[in-house]
Amino acid sequence: MKKTIKDIDWTGKKAVMRCDFNVPLDGDVITDDIRIRAALPSIEYLLDNGAAVVLMSHLGRPKGEPKPEFSLAPVAKRIEELTGRSVNFVPSDVVVDDKVREAAAALKAGEMMLIENVRYRAGETKNDPEFAKELSELGDIFVQDAFGTAHRAHSSTTGIADYIPAVSGFLIEKELKFLGDAVNDPQRPFAAIMGGAKVKDKIPVITNLLDKVDILIVGGGMSYTFFKAQGYSIGTSLLDEEGLELAAGILKKAEEKGVKFMLPVDVVAADEFANDSPHDTYPVDAIPDNRMGLDIGAETIKLFTDTLKTAKTVVWNGPLGVFEMDNFAVGTKAIAECLAEIDATTVIGGGDSAAAVAKFGLGDKMTHISTGGGASLEFLEGRELPGIAIIEDK
Ligand code: 3PG
Repeated sequence: MKKTIKDIDWTGKKAVMRCDFNVPLDGDVITDDIRIRAALPSIEYLLDNGAAVVLMSHLGRPKGEPKPEFSLAPVAKRIEELTGRSVNFVPSDVVVDDKVREAAAALKAGEMMLIENVRYRAGETKNDPEFAKELSELGDIFVQDAFGTAHRAHSSTTGIADYIPAVSGFLIEKELKFLGDAVNDPQRPFAAIMGGAKVKDKIPVITNLLDKVDILIVGGGMSYTFFKAQGYSIGTSLLDEEGLELAAGILKKAEEKGVKFMLPVDVVAADEFANDSPHDTYPVDAIPDNRMGLDIGAETIKLFTDTLKTAKTVVWNGPLGVFEMDNFAVGTKAIAECLAEIDATTVIGGGDSAAAVAKFGLGDKMTHISTGGGASLEFLEGRELPGIAIIEDK
């Protein structure tokens, strides 16, 4: 068990808290603030329990230089709106300078400040010990709550723990509980749904999950590589050449393990990759040469949802079609609706599947939606994330 903020007496102490405020922006407007909301329980707990809080995060990939479009200023404003408390945003092109140090030193119990995007400094992504030390000197205890960045070994996610004690916030605790329990101690039957484009990217997850699940459903762009590996013609559908051999290996492994492995039986294929492109449904062994599969078909939806209704734990990572286009969102939506209704623990890996669930307005119907894209994928691969490893054990 990892130490959490509840294991500390915060009276008179200063927390340096790493959050993942890497939120999508349209200009300076935050288009999805879920990651900010997810950090609030820890922030409010700290402020209400005697701590002063220095917040830090990255935003985008400014590549070691100050770039105004990646400033955390909009985030400071949104935290103020959501909490009704004031946030002292102290921007600096070098992230930590004398002004920042003075503001941190002056911070009182129950007050918070936010420093500028840690990736303005080249040392951040190199896990530079000097930068880590500068960050650590802003407070007494490191609070790691950036689950979405826990797969990165950077100065603000791991290096800082070389200088001050590290505990987890509530978000990390929650992510570890839901993702961890789902994978390591699931109620059975345990089903995983894997979608997305590239077989290669998902191989380590699928390989890890094949040892744990009872049912593995593969859909989305990746499924065409599996069809090809089975000898079907896939028209102009997405093919991950590199993944062909890997797909064949997975099919074999699933059989050896006795896992119920399911691929689509029909797909919706169109002339072009466009929402208004003419399209029809075809069995997977009859995709026309000039068409590309962009969604799962009605028979597949029935097959998958009937199976999912028998599951007690479901982990979902990756959409089953081009859900960003309404005409090809039908399959992904049907699966999301099914998960929203079934009596099972439903865990949504971050990234595209989380975006899909949000698009269909079903977020609050799932047991847990991870705030990590790459991080949740690496977690599901069974790897220890560096940003978690540095948190002290109880
Ligand atoms: C994410 O959005 O997955 C995290 O914030 C990590 O961002 P990164 O891929 O730029 O490290």
